[in-house]
Amino acid sequence: MPTRADFLAEHRELQAALDALRVLAARPSRDERAWVVDLAGALRDLLPRLFAHFASEERSGLFEEIGERGPENLSAARRLREDHEHLRFRLERLHEDALAWPVPGGPRAFAARVREVLDALVEHEAFENEVLVRSLDASLAAAD
Ligand SMILES: [Fe+2]
Ligand SMILES: [Fe+2]
Repeated sequence: MPTRADFLAEHRELQAALDALRVLAARPSRDERAWVVDLAGALRDLLPRLFAHFASEERSGLFEEIGERGPENLSAARRLREDHEHLRFRLERLHEDALAWPVPGGPRAFAARVREVLDALVEHEAFENEVLVRSLDASLAAAD
């Protein structure tokens, strides 16, 4: 079973992939069609890793454990779980749309949509890091 430290390490690895995608999504290149093909490729590589990461967090009982630490943590755990569902949905749509040409709304609007989803994803992982570190600290203190 992965530990909280494992999840923090996975977050650091995922961050590199997200940074690469963000560079790509900064603006459509001159060859817009090739740019969309590259974006679709980056999403195809990222999504299975990311969804495996989500599933591993869910299976590990992490959110139940966080939720057991009082009312404030209960809403944090609920939010993290709901984030996964929303992000899975938005990322799958994004990947599907990236496989079509022309992309819905045109390349510029599509790039903005990719950045928006990336922001939501980064926000989710940052909040999760915060909750993980807080609960790690609490369990270390309890072990003293
Ligand atoms: Fe998560
Ligand atoms: Fe995570």
